[in-house]
Amino acid sequence: MPSAHRRTRIRELLTRPEPLPEVVVKGWVRTLRKGKEVAFASLSDGSCLAPLQVVLTPGLANFEVIAKVGTGACLAVAGELVPSPAAGQKWELHARSVTLLGDADAEYPLQKKRHSLEFLRSIAHLRPRANTFGAVFRVRSALAFAVHKFFQERGFLYVQTPIITASDCEGAGEMFRVTTLPPRNPQLAEGEVDWREDFFGEKTGLTVSGQLEGELFATAFSDIYTFGPTFRAENSNTSRHAAEFWMIEPEMAFADLADDCALAEDFLRYLVTYALQHCGEDLAFFNQHIEPGLLEKLENLAKAEFHTMTYTEAVRVLQKAGRDFEFNAEWGLDLQTEHERYLTEEVVGGPLFVTDYPAGIKAFYMRLNDDERTVAAMDLLVPRVGEIIGGSQREERYDVLLNRMAEAGIAPESLWWYLDTRRWGSCPHAGFGLGFERLLMYVTGMENIRDVIPFPRTPGSAKF
Ligand code: 4AD
Ligand code: MG
Repeated sequence: MPSAHRRTRIRELLTRPEPLPEVVVKGWVRTLRKGKEVAFASLSDGSCLAPLQVVLTPGLANFEVIAKVGTGACLAVAGELVPSPAAGQKWELHARSVTLLGDADAEYPLQKKRHSLEFLRSIAHLRPRANTFGAVFRVRSALAFAVHKFFQERGFLYVQTPIITASDCEGAGEMFRVTTLPPRNPQLAEGEVDWREDFFGEKTGLTVSGQLEGELFATAFSDIYTFGPTFRAENSNTSRHAAEFWMIEPEMAFADLADDCALAEDFLRYLVTYALQHCGEDLAFFNQHIEPGLLEKLENLAKAEFHTMTYTEAVRVLQKAGRDFEFNAEWGLDLQTEHERYLTEEVVGGPLFVTDYPAGIKAFYMRLNDDERTVAAMDLLVPRVGEIIGGSQREERYDVLLNRMAEAGIAPESLWWYLDTRRWGSCPHAGFGLGFERLLMYVTGMENIRDVIPFPRTPGSAKF
């Protein structure tokens, strides 16, 4: 006999081969229909997309109360799992006793009708209970696990790089400041804020990337990865940028750009295959309601060839496209999202590595190519999302690195520890960063980054 505390997850019940005489289920009411004699509650506990149909009969001691609970109410039900005569469901639960754990009144905002994603964002504290978000966050959880599985199976060391840091890895000056100085009258030195008086004795912020520290670990453990939150104060209100997002950054010693691309390709293929194998029900939902053709796209990616094109070729292709782009493609300028999407969606029709960007538009740590104009960089572009991965071979030559830092206006003293790895036992190495939310957008078909992260942080918005 199961005790009232031992509950079984709905996912487990719905996939059972046989009925069960006695089982306890707990969850939230999606809908409740009252017929002449009986009432039907569809109950969800988040363990899977499909709800469990619960049949309530007047024999229940509290039938009148339970048959009137609102959508969103929380119930504990004990009863018998029997084959369901209804179409589309294998099992239903005949309730023997029901406890109302928490009622919900008619103001509960997630009533049965379809809500817009914008509206659901405004109730991010409740949207995990909606079908779409149940599916998103189950896939998110599964893929987070798959990230670790991929690297652990390949012998990569997982390293937790700091969240508070004094170095701006990407050099883009988009850091959120971390300070305990009083905002009204901070200590000043020559009219400027005196960061020596601050908590850490220097100017610090939230990390924009764990790469530099990741590189330190790669020169000890050979193959490492990070997986953590990343913060960027870029004031771009787009559907693909968040101020707080999660990034996975592998770093490999003894690797060049080709090795880096090969790892990125294996990794993306692995994650998509993992989702296809473990999140079938949720992906079928996205395929039906969010992005028609999603399943086919993912299945194709699992076997697709990844194309490669240099930046110089890409610019040539864009210039010959005969398209009216908002921004002209020109050698030396960054590719715009419209360019990236054209290349991946219309030119190759699948994933595309763009490599060897002009040194002037990429970070100081990328390895200078022999032409001395381009660096050994790569971006992986995918249809609909655009850039999903950015990476490079690193500049391992001390003098060249010093020059690149000088060009970028980075004082060598500020990165003395980074430079040290080039003094003692320097080696060729490479790595990349995968934006976890961009991956989720690609795998689920969700079009806005705000809808694949539990509580999005974007300019003007940090609620919940
Ligand atoms: O291209 P990014 O800026 O590269 C780096 O940070 C390197 N340090 C990575 C490395 O080589 N270890 O960022 C990497 C990826 C992008 O391709 C994108 O998927 C994601 O991170 N990303 C963002 N995702 C959401 N919101 C933002 N504001 C993002 N900025 C970058
Ligand atoms: Mg990038």
